[in-house]
Amino acid sequence: MNIDLTGRDIIVVGGAGYIGSHVCKSLNQRGARPIVFDNLSSGHAHAVKWGPLEEVDVRNADALDQAFAKYPQTKTVVHLASSIEVGIGETHPAEFYDNNVTGALVLLRAMDRAKIKRLIFSSTCATYGETQNMPLVESEIQNPVSTYGKTKLAIEHMIQSFHKAYGLSYVTLRYFNACGADAEGDIGEEHDPETHLIPIAMQSALGLRGKMKIFGLDYDTPDGTCIRDYIHVTDIARAHIGAINAFDDGLTSAEVNIGTGQGVSNLEILKTIERVTGLPLPFEKAPRRPGDLSRLYADPTNARSVLGFEPQHSDLDNIIKTAWRFHSQNR
Ligand SMILES: NC(=O)c1ccc[n+]([C@@H]2O[C@H](COP(=O)([O-])OP(=O)(O)OC[C@H]3O[C@@H](n4cnc5c(N)ncnc54)[C@H](O)[C@@H]3O)[C@@H](O)[C@H]2O)c1
Repeated sequence: MNIDLTGRDIIVVGGAGYIGSHVCKSLNQRGARPIVFDNLSSGHAHAVKWGPLEEVDVRNADALDQAFAKYPQTKTVVHLASSIEVGIGETHPAEFYDNNVTGALVLLRAMDRAKIKRLIFSSTCATYGETQNMPLVESEIQNPVSTYGKTKLAIEHMIQSFHKAYGLSYVTLRYFNACGADAEGDIGEEHDPETHLIPIAMQSALGLRGKMKIFGLDYDTPDGTCIRDYIHVTDIARAHIGAINAFDDGLTSAEVNIGTGQGVSNLEILKTIERVTGLPLPFEKAPRRPGDLSRLYADPTNARSVLGFEPQHSDLDNIIKTAWRFHSQNR
């Protein structure tokens, strides 16, 4: 994607987090200045390397107004800030709805006051819920199982209403499983607590946690474990560049899956980690988790046609190599 964004200010809400920091690096590589708005609740100031950091909570309207006023050239906001731990959403739904849904509403209203008309929103494949229809197309019924997915779907609907009523242009990106790390090792996945398979497996391989659990070995898949669509975080970042370019070409609204279209099983991930790291990765069998589908992978056709997006970094070896480099260096 040879897209020149020289001289542009782009506000990245949640830019101190895992995916947001990779988005910032991608923007910077194309000449833009990423301005991070983040309350550092789960993100890290050390991951903000390519532009200023405004420490604001997305639910604080006054703080947002003041921060937006400092960057009057901004035409586009990327909104990644969110509570993301699916399990915590089930036990603390009030906090989830507040941070995710209230946060999005306060942000959209502040954008309206600041006359910023373009939004790229981080949604998720978790908005689809239980379905056997793979690969997943964007028109699939959205009936999320988790509170997390429900908050994201509520925000998708809110954005669609703002589009119709107030002329907000938007691209909603429904990411599948984000993974891997920056090729230069500048940034990587630093969630705490960590709930994603690859970093957990790496922490386990490094002796930083006990034997890892595989939830369900009796699924109707070739090796009995769940199949997911793993998309490298650098590719996810590139999809945002494609979205900005699509706005420039006149796009005003789109929902787009961001995945590879390829399913990879849990056991394939573990075997690749063992091969790449040379370390044994023992695991123990655990019961299936409620709501976990056997297969979940994207139809990437729309991403190709709407954003001109093709994954370039998402072969499994590259995902594991870049993640391993980050985790082993930052143990
Ligand atoms: N990681 C994945 O596999 C994945 C998959 C699908 C969708 N997503 C979505 O992508 C986005 C980023 O995910 P991530 O993995 O980088 O998470 P992350 O926790 O690393 O990043 C989220 C960032 O948002 C900030 N934040 C949270 N609440 C805030 C608030 N009230 N005000 C200001 N900042 C706030 C955090 O401090 C953090 O920097 C999220 O919206 C998530 O739902 C992630």
